[in-house]
Amino acid sequence: MSTTASAPALYGGATGRRVSVRDILQAKERQERWPMLTAYDALTARVFDEAGIPVLLVGDSAAMVVYGYDSTLPVTVDDLLPLTAAVSRATKRALVVADLPFGSYQGSPEQALDAAARFMKEGHAQAVKLEGGHRVAHQVEALVAAGIPVMGHIGLTPQSVNTLGGYRVQGRGEEAGAALLADAKELERAGAFSVVLECVPSELAARVTEQLSIPTIGIGAGPDTDAQVLVWQDMAGLSPHVAKFVKAYADLNETLSTAARNFADEVVQGSFPDAEHSYR
Ligand code: KIV
Repeated sequence: MSTTASAPALYGGATGRRVSVRDILQAKERQERWPMLTAYDALTARVFDEAGIPVLLVGDSAAMVVYGYDSTLPVTVDDLLPLTAAVSRATKRALVVADLPFGSYQGSPEQALDAAARFMKEGHAQAVKLEGGHRVAHQVEALVAAGIPVMGHIGLTPQSVNTLGGYRVQGRGEEAGAALLADAKELERAGAFSVVLECVPSELAARVTEQLSIPTIGIGAGPDTDAQVLVWQDMAGLSPHVAKFVKAYADLNETLSTAARNFADEVVQGSFPDAEHSYR
């Protein structure tokens, strides 16, 4: 949590205002590493904001962790908008990034602009994220031209799980690695302010990070990206099944389960509520 004289550190540094995409780009120049988490509701967003997490992503992973689907495909703009608005309302410092869900941007730059504008106007997000490299370059250009900061996302792009043939590591081998690097450069050229690299070999992620002037954000991409992101329920040990790249920093599953059992036992025994938790 160190700060330099000229610029506050992204993680935990005081700004007295929201973190901006300019702050993010300056952190790359300082070679500063930073954390990003997902958030989908007001209470957890406030906790992460007060912990100094500089970027919160309202991910389409909400499809699984909030709505209970088995992929990100079914979730819609209307599903994600209220979650984004809640995260924006609950935070003061974090840059809030809204994920554009499957089917809301692939069709055309105009469609992308319509969806992104709703996340900015109704969700009060400060940026949006979309999946894909060269195939969405026109969408990125249109959004950036309209004043909407864009985070790219390449490698394992879960919205394309049906064409990728499953959730598997991407960019292995010379040809696939070169294609991924070209996609990253294309996103940078189109104006993206950062790019998520999901499930790619560490060595390739390091090469992409070195060759881009915008930050890379890794998830299953090894230690050499500029930033790291995790789905918060995975990070806190609430998700029942997690990928190899996930590290759980708490055991919320156990904590919540114990709390629920203790509550239930006391209700059954008649010891809750006691006098302390009752009105006279
Ligand atoms: O939707 C999401 O949570 C994401 C992150 C895992 C990067 O896209």
